[in-house]
Amino acid sequence: MNVRTRVSIVGATGYSGAELCAILARHPRVELVGVHSSSGGGSSPFASLHPSLAGRSGPAVTPFVLASLLASRPEFVFLATPNEAAAEIAPKLLASGCRVIDLSGAFRLPHAEAYPKWYGFTHPAPELLKEAVYGLSEWADGALAGARLVANPGCYPTSVILPLRPLMPLLAEGHAIVCDSASGVSGAGKKSDLAFSFGELSGNFKAYGVGSHRHEPEMRNALGLNERAPFVFVAHLLPVVRGILSTIHVTFDRPVSAEELTRTYRRAYDGKPFVRLHPAGTLPDLKDVVGTPFADIGFSLLGEGRQAVVVCCIDNLLKGAASQAVQNLNRMIAAGETEGLS
Ligand SMILES: NC(=O)c1ccc[n+]([C@@H]2O[C@H](COP(=O)([O-])OP(=O)(O)OC[C@H]3O[C@@H](n4cnc5c(N)ncnc54)[C@H](OP(=O)(O)O)[C@@H]3O)[C@@H](O)[C@H]2O)c1
Repeated sequence: MNVRTRVSIVGATGYSGAELCAILARHPRVELVGVHSSSGGGSSPFASLHPSLAGRSGPAVTPFVLASLLASRPEFVFLATPNEAAAEIAPKLLASGCRVIDLSGAFRLPHAEAYPKWYGFTHPAPELLKEAVYGLSEWADGALAGARLVANPGCYPTSVILPLRPLMPLLAEGHAIVCDSASGVSGAGKKSDLAFSFGELSGNFKAYGVGSHRHEPEMRNALGLNERAPFVFVAHLLPVVRGILSTIHVTFDRPVSAEELTRTYRRAYDGKPFVRLHPAGTLPDLKDVVGTPFADIGFSLLGEGRQAVVVCCIDNLLKGAASQAVQNLNRMIAAGETEGLS
C-alpha cells in the first residue's frame, strides 16, 4: 500500500514556496494537507499558487496560524518564510512532533553568536543549531534519514559548495579562493524594494555584499574554512528572473591534469542524479538549468594545471531551494532520490 506522507508548507505564496507546491502536488509519496501564507495574508484557491497547478485541487491557501496548521496533522512542514519567522516557528513545530525542512537561513549556522552579525537578529532557539542537519543533499548522506530539523542550504552556497568541495584537498594553502556569483532577481524573494524594480535592473549588472553577504559564513563552514582563510565571495545581481552562475577561481598545490580533476568530480558525484558534469574544458550555461533541479559543473585548467576556473549553474528556486528541499524530504522518508523530481 502506498502510504502518503502528510506535508504542509508555510510561505507557500512566496517564490520558493510556490515552487515547492508545484513539485509536492505531483509527488507520488506526498499528501499536501496545508498551504499557508503570512498571518496577514488572505485566503485563496490552491491552484492560484503556481501556473502549473491550473485545474488541480488541493488545500486552500490560508494565513499561518499554528493551531490550524497542526489541526491538519502534518508529519513534515516546509518553512519557506523569512529567516526570523522560521526561527520562531520551527521550535513550536518540533515541540508538536512535526519534522521541519527550513528553506531559510535560520538554522544554517552552527553558532548563535553569528546571527546578530550576519542575519540581524538574536537567535530564539540556539539549542537547535547543533541539532539541525545541513541539507546539501549530495553531501548530507545518512544524516538526513533520522533528522527532525533540516537546514536547506542557501542558493549561492549550493552553487559554490557543490563545485568546490571535491577540490578542497587539492588546493594550495594561502591562495585565495575567489567566487563570483551572479543571481537572477527572484533570489531576493517577492519584495518590492526599489533596487529590485524593473527600472533599476533592466540593462544593468552590479556587484554587492562584498565581505558582508550572509551566505559567506555558511560557505566557509561547509568548506571547512575558518574566518581568516583567504576566501572571497562576490554576489552580483543579474537582470534575469531566475538562475545562478558561479565562477570560481582556484589554485592547486601542484599541477593537476584534466583527467585527475574529472576523476575527482566523478568520485564525488557519480550516482548523484542532480549533479551533471561537463566534459573537461567546457563550461555550463545558465539556460540549461533554469526550470530544472540540476546543478551543472564544468572547469577549465590554466597555468599548466596549477589553476582552474570552475563554473556551476543552478536554478536558485529549485536546486537552490525547493527541489533540493524535496531531495531532502525523499531521504527523510526513504523514497527514491528522484521521486517527484524527474
Ligand atoms: N528566493 C530564493 O531564490 C531562495 C533560495 C533559497 C532560499 N531562500 C529562502 O527561502 C525563504 C523564502 O524565500 P522566498 O524568496 O520564497 O520569499 P518570498 O517570495 O518573499 O515569500 C515569503 C513567504 O513567506 C510568507 N511569510 C512572510 N512572513 C511570514 C510570517 N511571519 N509567518 C508565516 N509566513 C510568512 C509570505 O507570505 P505572504 O505572501 O502573505 O507575504 C510568503 O509566502 C527565505 O528565507 C529565503 O532566504 C530563497
